[in-house]
Amino acid sequence: MPEQFISVKPGTLLAPVPAVMVSCALPGQKPNIVTIAWAGTVNSEPPMCSVSVRKERFSHGIIRDSGEFVINLVGEAQLKATDFCGVKSGRDVDKFAACGLTPARVPGFTAPAVAECPLYLACRVTKMLELGSHDMFIGTVEQMGVKPEMMDGAGRIDFSKAKLAAYNHGNYYALGSALGFFGYSVAAPDVLARRMKELK
Ligand SMILES: Cc1cc2nc3c(=O)[nH]c(=O)nc-3n(C[C@H](O)[C@H](O)[C@H](O)COP(=O)(O)O)c2cc1C
Repeated sequence: MPEQFISVKPGTLLAPVPAVMVSCALPGQKPNIVTIAWAGTVNSEPPMCSVSVRKERFSHGIIRDSGEFVINLVGEAQLKATDFCGVKSGRDVDKFAACGLTPARVPGFTAPAVAECPLYLACRVTKMLELGSHDMFIGTVEQMGVKPEMMDGAGRIDFSKAKLAAYNHGNYYALGSALGFFGYSVAAPDVLARRMKELK
């Protein structure tokens, strides 16, 4: 078969990805926030996430020594702070204070969540993999918190309220309108019509 692509230098172009604010803390010390694009969901049962952090980041030692990290999803309203937390180090700046962000208690965790963010996933580290440039911390999601204003009338999380942002090759984007839903390619016509209407 013909080769239909131009071969380019292998890199980290998986996109779009979330850029999240990861909060972390050691007992008795000020909490920190680091922006992470190399974050992922790595297991469903139990729910597990990963964050890949360079050894030289201030946050690296905090996550390693505390064995915790809190992933805070980022909406458009938190995007500027997210960028700031990705260019300034907690060695030099109290990022919660500098960004006017509020630490929120996470039951059983030293690290706070970021109260302004729509949803957090608090993870307990189970493994650290040294991959090269980054160390990947894999953690089990032990607590999850959602802002009350994210819930719809039926007790479900309405993600459209979060106005989540995506990170795509160095730039931040708003999510566009819904294009489909899980299984829509094989959904019955009436289900497809109803669900698509709900998504609009
Ligand atoms: C959009 C964005 C994504 C980033 N993703 C990562 C990442 O996945 N891993 C990482 O180690 N650093 C990442 N960084 C860089 C760190 O957030 C940055 O070096 C930060 O200042 C480190 O803070 P700290 O020293 O307080 O830990 C990212 C920065 C930005 C702006």
